Amino acid sequence: MTYTPVLPAAGRAGSGSARRTDIRACVDSFDAPLASMVHTTMAEVEAELRRRVVAPGDAWLSEAAGHLIRAGGKRLRPLLVILSAQTSRPNPAHVLRAAIAVELMHVATLHHDDVMDNATLRHGVPSANARWGNRLAVLVGDHLMAVACMTALEVDTKLVRRQGWTLTRLVRGQAAEGSALRTDQDAVEHYLQVASDKSASLFALCGWAGAACGGADEAVAEALAEYGEALGIAFQISDDLLDIVADSAASGKTRGIDLQKGVRTLPILHALDVGDHRAERLGEILAHGAVDDPALRHEALELLRTSPGLERCYDDLRRHAAVAENSLARVPDGPARDALLTVADFVVKRTY
Ligand code: IPE
Ligand code: IPE
Ligand code: MG
Ligand code: MG
Repeated sequence: MTYTPVLPAAGRAGSGSARRTDIRACVDSFDAPLASMVHTTMAEVEAELRRRVVAPGDAWLSEAAGHLIRAGGKRLRPLLVILSAQTSRPNPAHVLRAAIAVELMHVATLHHDDVMDNATLRHGVPSANARWGNRLAVLVGDHLMAVACMTALEVDTKLVRRQGWTLTRLVRGQAAEGSALRTDQDAVEHYLQVASDKSASLFALCGWAGAACGGADEAVAEALAEYGEALGIAFQISDDLLDIVADSAASGKTRGIDLQKGVRTLPILHALDVGDHRAERLGEILAHGAVDDPALRHEALELLRTSPGLERCYDDLRRHAAVAENSLARVPDGPARDALLTVADFVVKRTY
């Protein structure tokens, strides 16, 4: 089986220029032997993902658990595990299992997140909640998380412990996203804390797990965890930008869903902070939280796309990607480290 990430292959920026969103092209740009090894391992990850989510004796659960996995995804987290492992001397069987475990955790959280967001589209297909309802979608997510835990246990208990801690952070971030700001809390700081917990925590696990499978010393493992943490924040910022600037065909998700659920993401916060006529109108539209009316959502998206606040958000994206790159100074030099730098660049460029 070949590794063919389904999404998003040909995103288009507002300007009409091709956005560099193809992760396969990103892998192809690595040092040739490394790229070849990554493609081979990713194909194994792909096959194993499908195999492991099967629930013996339960045809429905097996079918439902494979639904979003078959539909695609960039498989960015397994890629991070594989590359982080390659900075030392990896145990290939452990790398494969750790890569599968993080992707299963990710897909499990997508099931739960789509229920929370009332999302209908994921990976370009109906989300699990749209297809089977919230109750069953939550259970499919639980099943995937259980398989993720069992897979991590095949590596070692240290990975399971770190996985547990990651999940606690993830839950905390998802819960905090919808909560009201404390009076002493800055909105941007709150956003960054949420992004760190709900998304970057899993990226940090990828860096650490890869290093652990490579037998790297603790300092290198922590440097790769820090790389993942900063990259994860950059990634969430890029995702929030794409919610505004990418169309559904490219992202496989419904555009403007953050407005629809009333979440003030970083581009929205910056646009409001500019204080121009757009900010004033945007503030009116967002005054009641969730923007349910499609016409108002369309208007808000136009205001956001033309706001000078958007450029501030791109600055933040580049800054967090640069923090990730700087963490790699403490990682052994070589093609894998170069590839991790390329991935940081990919996270920035995919929004252009
Ligand atoms: C989406 O992640 C969830 C976020 C953390 C923003 P991805 O964009 O990596 O999900 P895939 O590639 O569609 O699975
Ligand atoms: C949720 O963030 C991140 C997760 C923990 C799954 P988003 O709500 O922005 O993710 P998408 O846009 O639905 O993928
Ligand atoms: Mg969501
Ligand atoms: Mg999003």
